[in-house]
Amino acid sequence: MNSYVNMGVGAFLGTVFVLMSVSIASEGIFHSEAPEKEGFAIVAEEGTADAGAGAQEEAEVDIKPLLLKADVAAGETVFKKCASCHTVDKGGANKVGPNLWGLVNRPIASHEGFSYSAGMKTFSEGGKVVWDYDHLSFFIEAPKKHVPGTAMGFAGVKKPDERANLIAYLREHADAPAALPDAAASAEAAPAAATEGAAEKPAEAPAAEAKPAEGQAAPEGQPAPAQ
Ligand code: HEC
Repeated sequence: MNSYVNMGVGAFLGTVFVLMSVSIASEGIFHSEAPEKEGFAIVAEEGTADAGAGAQEEAEVDIKPLLLKADVAAGETVFKKCASCHTVDKGGANKVGPNLWGLVNRPIASHEGFSYSAGMKTFSEGGKVVWDYDHLSFFIEAPKKHVPGTAMGFAGVKKPDERANLIAYLREHADAPAALPDAAASAEAAPAAATEGAAEKPAEAPAAEAKPAEGQAAPEGQPAPAQ
């Protein structure tokens, strides 16, 4: 009897030994290191290109110097984008949009027989503002954005030189084409305006300081009005 027990114990121990060996061996074969970070690393490209383009889009371009070297024939080609909705010949019909004869320096939203949107009427400030070169360039660049509520369903002519060519073409379609901007004058205008502004300030300052002096004492440390 005793020997049967011994055999049983031996068989059991033998089985345990084999199982343990297999376990240790397989651990060695299939062992894998835990990853340092869980999940996949996703490397995203930084979108600097978009930001650059956006900034450029906002840049205000002075159209006047470009008008001096504009190409009227090229402007006629650009006008094909407008011709589905606008005529430009003298006495031409209003289509989806108003006739554009004599457009430059014409009061905004003023063409006979055309019913303008509220947005365009607001932009005209009650018919006071005219289609000068700056207003035309601004509107045509991005109609819906620059004249909120306009009925003109057109994306805009984004390139400044294309816009200049187009405006030069429109300018010629008038009884008496408007004067082209004077290159020398527009270059000198900026510094002249700056000097004027600086000269105005000292003149205004005493007037502004005179008021508190009437009713209450002027705050200490301020320069006397008369200098
Ligand atoms: C899909 C039709 C459509 C196209 C294309 C279009 N326009 Fe217009 N345009 C209109 C409408 C409609 C109005 C009237 C806008 C309003 O009342 O808000 C208008 C108004 C205007 C005005 C104001 C005129 C005024 O009497 O005050 C100008 C300038 C103008 N368009 C220029 C252009 C130019 C230049 C192009 C081409 C680059 C162009 N439009 C393309 C439909 C169009």
